[in-house]
Amino acid sequence: MDSYKIAAKLLQGARHAIAFTGAGISTESNIPDFRGTQGLWKRFDPRMASRGYFLEDPNGFWQFYAKRYEYIVGAEPNAAHKALSLLEEEGIIKSVITQNIDRLHSKAGSKSVLEVHGDIMMSRCDCCGEQVPTVECIKFYRDSGSAPTCGKCQGGLRPSIVLFEEPPDLIEAAFNIAHRSDLCLSVGSSLCVYPAAMVPEIVKRRGGHLIIINYDPTPLDGIADIVIREKASAALEAILKEFDGR
Ligand code: APR
Repeated sequence: MDSYKIAAKLLQGARHAIAFTGAGISTESNIPDFRGTQGLWKRFDPRMASRGYFLEDPNGFWQFYAKRYEYIVGAEPNAAHKALSLLEEEGIIKSVITQNIDRLHSKAGSKSVLEVHGDIMMSRCDCCGEQVPTVECIKFYRDSGSAPTCGKCQGGLRPSIVLFEEPPDLIEAAFNIAHRSDLCLSVGSSLCVYPAAMVPEIVKRRGGHLIIINYDPTPLDGIADIVIREKASAALEAILKEFDGR
């Protein structure tokens, strides 16, 4: 049996399957990933996405995030996002846990989405928590060339995302879902950023199945039931076809 057939069979047999996604699912929507062949961390220092850098050089920090915002703001979901939404509609996938900050799963129609690294479309004051749409921060940055500040307390504004050196707020909720799940379908993640990468590990350690779809090898390939090194959209569409042929 080929990998797609086995993956479809495992998904159909699962009681509570979840998807775990990373930047690789959005590259087909023209949003660069971090560690792939054209990844951002080949062109930029990962420190630019850290809390330390935000505090030390807010202008440089916003220069970097204005670029990332540009990639994301006009992006549309691709066939891989749509396939996961369809799998949820059919009752096969119960939730999507994503490390992405691009809202594309929701845009594709997925209802149960947990964005463990936040959402770039909203920003907040780092001091008082005041919420501001990121589009306003970008406009301020572009018009003035300097980092936006809070209208209420003058604290520094920053996207409502999890920066390096910060704990992901929603990770406990993600772990709870993982503990209830018997299959994890990981799509487009290098699975090397913790604690998020614990999600597929928890599912596997508790006796569930792990299916990995990713171009590059990941540290969890060795414990996975199936590893598919294919383009995310093509792989998910091939799995869906197996469902159709049931
Ligand atoms: N199909 C399949 N795999 C793909 C595709 C595609 N179309 N495009 C890229 N990939 C693979 C790459 O080979 C890479 O291994 O997706 C993976 C993406 O890995 P990362 O860039 O490390 O992204 P991610 O796992 O989401 O990173 C986790 O790191 O920098 C932080 O906060 C950031 O949330 C992010 C976290």
